[in-house]
Amino acid sequence: MARILITSALPYINGVKHLGNLVGSMLPADLHARFHRSLGNEVLLICATDEHGTPAELAAAEAGQDVQSYCDEQHEIQRELGERFALSWDCWGRTSRKPTHELTQHFADKLDEAGLIEERSISQVYSIDDGRYLPDRYIIGTCPHCGYESARGDQCENCTKVLDPTDLIDPRSAVSGSTNLEVRETKHLYLKQSKLVPELRKWIATREGVWSHLVTSIANKWLDEGLQDRGITRDLDWGIAVKHGGKWPDYDDKVFYVWFDAPIGYIGATREWGEATGGDWESWWREDKGAGDVTYYQVMAKDNVPFHTVGFPVTLIGSGESWKRVDMIKGFNWLTYYGGKFSTSQKRGVFMDQALDLLPADYWRYYLMANAPEGSDASFTWEHFAATVNKDLADVLGNFVNRIMKFTASKFGEQVPEGGAWGADEDALIAELEPRMAAYKSHMEALEYRKALAELRAIWVLGNEYLTRVAPWAAIKDDPAKAALGCRMGLNLIHLFAHLSEPVMPATARKMHESLLPAPPVLPWPGSNLKDTLSRIEPGQPFKVPEVLFQKITDDQIAAWRERFGAEEE
Ligand code: 2FM
Ligand code: ZN
Repeated sequence: MARILITSALPYINGVKHLGNLVGSMLPADLHARFHRSLGNEVLLICATDEHGTPAELAAAEAGQDVQSYCDEQHEIQRELGERFALSWDCWGRTSRKPTHELTQHFADKLDEAGLIEERSISQVYSIDDGRYLPDRYIIGTCPHCGYESARGDQCENCTKVLDPTDLIDPRSAVSGSTNLEVRETKHLYLKQSKLVPELRKWIATREGVWSHLVTSIANKWLDEGLQDRGITRDLDWGIAVKHGGKWPDYDDKVFYVWFDAPIGYIGATREWGEATGGDWESWWREDKGAGDVTYYQVMAKDNVPFHTVGFPVTLIGSGESWKRVDMIKGFNWLTYYGGKFSTSQKRGVFMDQALDLLPADYWRYYLMANAPEGSDASFTWEHFAATVNKDLADVLGNFVNRIMKFTASKFGEQVPEGGAWGADEDALIAELEPRMAAYKSHMEALEYRKALAELRAIWVLGNEYLTRVAPWAAIKDDPAKAALGCRMGLNLIHLFAHLSEPVMPATARKMHESLLPAPPVLPWPGSNLKDTLSRIEPGQPFKVPEVLFQKITDDQIAAWRERFGAEEE
C-alpha cells in the first residue's frame, strides 16, 4: 500500500471561491485523492484556509468585521461549500491556528540558526493618521501611466502596470483616505534565498520529466532571472508574530509575510489532523520519522508555482532538517469566463455557492475536469457547459444506465436475469475496454484530467455500443437467453462504470452502486481480470431502477444564466 500525501493550494479566506479557483486546485486534488483511495492506497488530503496578509484584513474591513470573526465565519462558509462539492479533505485546517503559528516560528528560528536570515532597513510609507505603516496595496492614488484615480500601490488595475507606491500621484491611505503620509525607515527580516540556488537547481533537475513543462519552466525562469532575497516580515497586526520566545524583541508590530507562512500551513494543517485524530503527522512530513516512503503531490494554478518550486523549498531545505519535499507538482493554466478573467473583486464569473444553486456538484465536477485548463487556458461558457452535460452525461452515461435498467426491469423484473453464454460480443467488449481502462488509469495517475476524462467517456460509449450490437430488445423475442446475457452484462457495466467514475462524480457513482445493492466492491482497481469483474453482478440479485441521473440543460436555462451572470466575450 503506497502512502500518498496531497495538498491543494490553500484558498484565501476572503470570500467564496469561483470555479476558476476550484478547477485549479481543490477539485483536481480531490480527484487524485479519491483515485488513490480506490486503488487501496493510504491517502492524506490536506487543505486549509490561507488567512493572513492584506487580503484578509481588507476584506474584513470591507465587511465591517474584526479580522478574527470575519475569518471564523468565512472558514465555515468555505468548509460547507467544500463538503457540498464532495471535496474529501482529511483535514480542513486554518493557517491562523496554533500548529501553523508554531511551525512558522520554528522555521524562522532554524533559518536564522543556519545564517539565512538578515535584518535590513527599508523605506516604507507610514500613515500618521492611521498610526501604521501601509503595505503597498493599502496606498491608493492616481496612476502615472493612465491617469486611473484608484490605482493601488502595487499595481494599476486599469492598465495593469506594476507600480511602486512612490510612483502614485496624490497618494492616500486605503484604510482611512488620509493623505497625511510620510516615508519612514523600518527594519525587516530578509531570507537569503540566493544562497540556496545551487541546491535548488540540483533538486529541480531531479524533477525534469516528472513535473510538466509549465512547472519546470516557471521554476527555472525564477532561478535564471536571479533569485532575490525575500522580505519575510510585514507591518501588520493580523498574522503570525515575528517576536516570539525572546527572539527579535523589537518586532512587536510585525508579522511574518503571508507567503512565508501559507505553505507551512500544509504542515500545520497535517498537525491539526494529527491532533484531531491521533494520527502521526510527522510520519507524513519528516523523512527521519517515517516519511521516506511518502509520495507527495501538490496541486495549484500557475501563479502559485514559484512559491512552491522555489519559496517553500528554500524554507524546507534551509532549515537543515529532513522535511519531506514535493515529488509531483501539478500546475494549471487559467480557466477564463467568456475569455476574460474570473474575478473575485469584480464578482465576474460563477462562484461555488452559485454553481450549486443551479445544479448538483457532479455536473460541475465532470465538466470542469473534462475541460481543465491544462495545456493552455480554457474558457467557460454556458453554451459549452450545457453541450458537455447534455452529451456526455445525459446522452452517454445517463442514457446507458437508464435504458438498460428500465428494459431489464420491464422484461425480467427487478432482478438480474439468468442465462446466455459468454461469446464473441463479450470478448470483443473486453478487448475494447482493456486498453481504454489502462489509459484511463495511467492518465489519472499522471493527473492528466482532460485525457483521463476523455477515456472515461470513451469507456461509457463502449457500453452503449455493446448494447447496440447485442440489442437485447430485439433478441428478447427469439433468443431470450441472449437478451438476458446482454442485460446482465449491461448491469455489470453499470457496476464497473460506477467504480471508474467515482473519483470524478462520487454522488452519481453512489446512486449507480446503490441501484445494484448489494453490489460487491470492485477493489482492487478493476482490470486485472475484466471477465471476472464483469461477472460480479450475479443472476437473481435484486436491483432498483434509479431516477434519471442527469437532467438536460435547456436553451431557456442557458438564456437565463447568460442573463444572470453576464456573458460578454472579452
Ligand atoms: O493563491 C492563493 O490562493 C494562495 N492563497 C495560495 C496559497 S498556497 C499555499 F502556499 F498555501
Ligand atoms: Zn494605470
